[in-house]
Amino acid sequence: MANNKNLHKANQAKKDEFYTQLADIEREVQHYEKHFRGKTVLCNCDDPRISNFFHFFSYNFERLGLKRLITTCYKNQERDLFSQNDCERAIWLEYLGDRNGNRVPDPEEIGIQLLEGDGDFRSDECIDLLKQADIVVTNPPFSLFREYVDQLMKYEKKFLIIGSKNAITYKEIFRYIKEGKLWLGHQFQNGNAFFKIAGEAREYVGGVYDQETGLVKFRNCGWYTNLDYEERHEDLILYKHYTPEEYPHYDNYDAIEVAKTADIPMDYSGVMGVPITFLDKYNPDQFEILGITDRQASCGFRTKEYTEKDSPKYNDLNRRGVLLVNGEYKAIYARILIRNKRLSGATQGD
Ligand SMILES: C[S@@+](CC[C@H](N)C(=O)[O-])C[C@H]1O[C@@H](n2cnc3c(N)ncnc32)[C@H](O)[C@@H]1O
Repeated sequence: MANNKNLHKANQAKKDEFYTQLADIEREVQHYEKHFRGKTVLCNCDDPRISNFFHFFSYNFERLGLKRLITTCYKNQERDLFSQNDCERAIWLEYLGDRNGNRVPDPEEIGIQLLEGDGDFRSDECIDLLKQADIVVTNPPFSLFREYVDQLMKYEKKFLIIGSKNAITYKEIFRYIKEGKLWLGHQFQNGNAFFKIAGEAREYVGGVYDQETGLVKFRNCGWYTNLDYEERHEDLILYKHYTPEEYPHYDNYDAIEVAKTADIPMDYSGVMGVPITFLDKYNPDQFEILGITDRQASCGFRTKEYTEKDSPKYNDLNRRGVLLVNGEYKAIYARILIRNKRLSGATQGD
């Protein structure tokens, strides 16, 4: 049993071993550059021998006007787990900028220090480094995403991190989105994220592996941040008018079903259920987020409770968070419930 558990843990850990490409980091960070001036950046899931995050920030240290760059390198106790982590102890690196004027981070300009433990981002010594940082930028282990984000929130850090877009529906993560404490960043080109993978991890990570490039493609990955950027405040252009025929009302919740984000009616002031992809276009000045269908208890969303009197299928109808239209499960995928802030004075359907 214990062996099974260890094996599961080891396989989970291998699933976390994929590495962000430099071009993707460059492409994303360019939208937030003004936030970095005079700041200490921490990359806390980053073996500098393989992670491009340290590379990017050290080479762009002067251009971004950074104050300090810190990287911690995770070294799992089980030595054979990761092919990359072959040194005895975990380390952390510090870079304070170019000293010899060649504009390149030379080895003698990078301070390398040993950590006492394995470099787990949750350890006291890593939390101590976190406290010294202003902005955390990395691609953390997906398997620990909730914990990772909770820790950033606890220490009130600014961040720009990569995660699976499935995490949007985790109740802990969605709560932050709803409260305006976390939002999606600019995103990967055409929604496709390509990562480098090493060694046998190829057998464990999801996505489509391309033999030629050695890259694996994840369709459902994105950047999460709490750094503001201009485009986030651009209105989604709405062109459709509300009609009851085109936008059915749910049976068990006072909202209409909008199957595509692009079809959000411009003149509906009530609550609308939209797909999760809405968040890619979400402007907090234009829309208010009220809840998510499959996280009703914690996000202020509660569907009507059916009893035996309503229908013999009442148990089915009460399935947590499912929205119904004419007794059918209309929105089988999660729906985000939103309201158009700009219409707050209007009557529904006006
Ligand atoms: C998705 S990979 C990304 C690596 C690197 N940040 C990049 O983008 O290229 C996540 C990394 O987190 C490391 N990691 C796993 N568990 C960790 C923990 N508890 N604390 C710190 N790092 C961890 C893994 O070894 C892995 O290299």
